[in-house]
Amino acid sequence: EKGGFATFMDKEIAEQPAAVADTLRGHFDGTRIVLDEQRLGEDELRTIDKVFVVACGSAYHSGLVAKYAIEHWTRLPVEVELASEFRYRDPVLDRDTLVVAVSQSGETADTLEAVRHARRQRARVLAVCNTNGSQIPRESDAVVYTHAGPEVGVASTKAFLAQITANYLVGLALAQARGTKYADEVARDFQALSEIPRAVEQTLELLEPVRELGRSIADSKAVLFLGRHVGFPVALEGALKLKELAYMHAEGFAAGELKHGPIALVEEGLPVVVVTPSPKSMPLLHSKLLSNIREVQARGARTIVIGEEGDDTIAPFADFLIELPRVPALLQPLVSTIPLQVLAAEIARTRGYDIDKPRNLAKSVTVE
Ligand code: F6R
Repeated sequence: EKGGFATFMDKEIAEQPAAVADTLRGHFDGTRIVLDEQRLGEDELRTIDKVFVVACGSAYHSGLVAKYAIEHWTRLPVEVELASEFRYRDPVLDRDTLVVAVSQSGETADTLEAVRHARRQRARVLAVCNTNGSQIPRESDAVVYTHAGPEVGVASTKAFLAQITANYLVGLALAQARGTKYADEVARDFQALSEIPRAVEQTLELLEPVRELGRSIADSKAVLFLGRHVGFPVALEGALKLKELAYMHAEGFAAGELKHGPIALVEEGLPVVVVTPSPKSMPLLHSKLLSNIREVQARGARTIVIGEEGDDTIAPFADFLIELPRVPALLQPLVSTIPLQVLAAEIARTRGYDIDKPRNLAKSVTVE
């Protein structure tokens, strides 16, 4: 059932091209983005004036990634909130608020309670979910299913990529309803998403050196992850994978926050993973990250840099360079997350842990 892979997680990492492709399938009819169970009309979507994404763990990170795209495409304010915090702080919700509840299992208690709270306040609720007929989509006004297929490994991998993809479809659906994107732009963005499975495949072929790296840093005390813009939630996700699989202290930071505190953690030999944007599409951010890499390298960190192929400006500062295929800036998390999944899995394996069933964790968390 693991299809020749050593673990479900390895299999599910390898299934990511299909997870993205299958999630896109059927959601564009040649002219318009179509959602699955759309009990929310286009006129209702048009009046939305604020979006909340509520979720837990990796699903929450998928929301943090999507915030950049949804705000950029729709000009709507988007807040991303941990489901476990959402309903305890009296968020401002009304019938023009769209609450996007992201959940692989569709049964996460914190997220379900956030959905119920939002509905009591008359907000519209759209579920992004991987499990047909589960509770969260049942209680929502509209659904976009992620078609990642069953995810057995406790640590989310293919479901995470599928969640980002589905969140982007929600962003495009909102943009088309609001008219902040012309039909040809929506078509172009959908096309760009459709090219991602190929980039994911190419990325999967580049990972043997990442496994070697994982083996070589498996006895580190801690690993830091840095990123900016969409690379920031990718850093958070990389750190979460390492914590849950390898039981290693790991933290993700917005790279701009380094000098506001975290740089004090940097000491000789500390592995620091840096997710860098494309120098071509995000030159300013790229140069800022370059300085961040230099800052940590000057303090003895072992820099592990995720960059775009052909970017030779970062090579001199990377003790280890992972070059990924070039994709549009907002879509980079769909490729840059993958080496971090593999790194965490390999470190955990080297330490002798069961990567499909990390200690203390359950696949579906049905208590608050
Ligand atoms: C991390 C992970 C968890 C889940 C979280 C939400 O690898 O798997 O953080 O993402 O428990 O679960 P769902 O998406 O089922 O609501």
